[in-house]
Amino acid sequence: MKFMIIFGTRPEAIKIIPVIRKLKESGFQVVICVTAQQREMLDQSLDFFGIIPDYDLNIMVDCQDLFYVTIKVLEGLKKILQKEKPDIVLVQGDTSTAFTASLAAFYLQISIGHIEAGLRTHNKYNPFPEEKNRHLIGVLADYHFAPTELARDNLTKEGIPESQIWVTGNTVIDTLLEVINRQSSVVKQEELGRYFKERWKLVLTDDNQKRILVTGHRRESFGEDFRNICMALKEIAEKNPDVTIIYPVHLNPNVRKPVYEILGSDPVNQIDGTAPKNIFLLEPLEYEYFVYLMSKSYIIMTDSGGIQEEAPSLHKPVLVMRNTTERYEGIEANTLRLVGTKKDVISREAQQLLDSKDTYDKMSRSINPYGDGKAAGRIVDILTKNLMSGDRSKR
Ligand code: UD1
Ligand code: UDP
Repeated sequence: MKFMIIFGTRPEAIKIIPVIRKLKESGFQVVICVTAQQREMLDQSLDFFGIIPDYDLNIMVDCQDLFYVTIKVLEGLKKILQKEKPDIVLVQGDTSTAFTASLAAFYLQISIGHIEAGLRTHNKYNPFPEEKNRHLIGVLADYHFAPTELARDNLTKEGIPESQIWVTGNTVIDTLLEVINRQSSVVKQEELGRYFKERWKLVLTDDNQKRILVTGHRRESFGEDFRNICMALKEIAEKNPDVTIIYPVHLNPNVRKPVYEILGSDPVNQIDGTAPKNIFLLEPLEYEYFVYLMSKSYIIMTDSGGIQEEAPSLHKPVLVMRNTTERYEGIEANTLRLVGTKKDVISREAQQLLDSKDTYDKMSRSINPYGDGKAAGRIVDILTKNLMSGDRSKR
């Protein structure tokens, strides 16, 4: 039985690596193909988890658009899939790599397993293009691994037979819990603290310090919304000089430009030369450092999908700087709050969370609805059972 695992970005790597490991442990032949839709941010994850791909399409160029990524992935995968002839292709999530890999597998009539299936905002352009990428993968896939019951319901409403859907939890929790576990010793904690002090001049060991961790990269927010988000962060920093805002900035130039212009400390690039000193702009962090930083933060403000799923395990409230989310479970559990992309609303919500211990405690106490750290094992068990019984395509 030959599995081909195809991925191309940081979140796909973080979420699919536990499945690769479980497949290898079970003795299956696993061919790993990365598109490198994201070069540096993918490599950070591959290096950290010690994964060496069999194929690397190395497609990333600066400011690539959706057409470019789709064409390059489709073209590159054709030859590899024809040569390797896997029994099944596994993809994760909603990126253009995941969608295009599914399309390539479909064109060659290869079975498709979709990990993290069924999340929906029901808004075609938000998140864009991820909402439709994920939906279209669902149309093509044979095995749908839904992280939650809600995701399963979304799929059944779209006509996917119940027999092709399994609720497994999200594999991101597998990775997260493993990394948290690796960080439990005092020695490791000291090492992580030293890294931030020496590399970023940040002291994270003072537990009385309130830190806000920020990330952002959504395509639908580029332009005006991103500037609003940055202006809100600036206002929060100015109103709360005792709070530190830490922002590892995504490598997308559409993100970096407004962030460095509005929040950067380089006087040449600042809009008005008054970026607050309590904002720290970092480069994207390797996963273990990011997890440590999450654990040392008081609040997380983000538009990231993965972080919405991880934060409840660390008991951190998340302000989601988006107009929609496909992670309703977190909203229901009161661990996520959707604050949109308007400056005043973002600033007000953050201030309330900083000022009201009661609001904070209600948001930070919840149980993680996204998984128990055993999702990858479930996925591999299901695939083993179904593929071994000769049921290669359940449709
Ligand atoms: C992509 C995914 C998005 C996912 C996100 C995770 C699509 C359409 N978008 O968005 O779903 O949530 O990754 O981070 O699939 N860049 C670098 N180095 C990197 C990564 C990006 O320089 O390691 C720059 C390049 O200029 C690149 C640009 O960012 O052209 C955009 O990268 P891309 O992966 O296409 O889009 P993201 O916005 O990162
Ligand atoms: N992450 C990381 N380093 C960072 C920022 C995020 O390792 O500097 C991790 C984060 O913990 C999560 C994933 O990357 O697991 C989220 O990636 P991203 O926000 O790029 O994509 P999304 O989840 O929105 O698709």
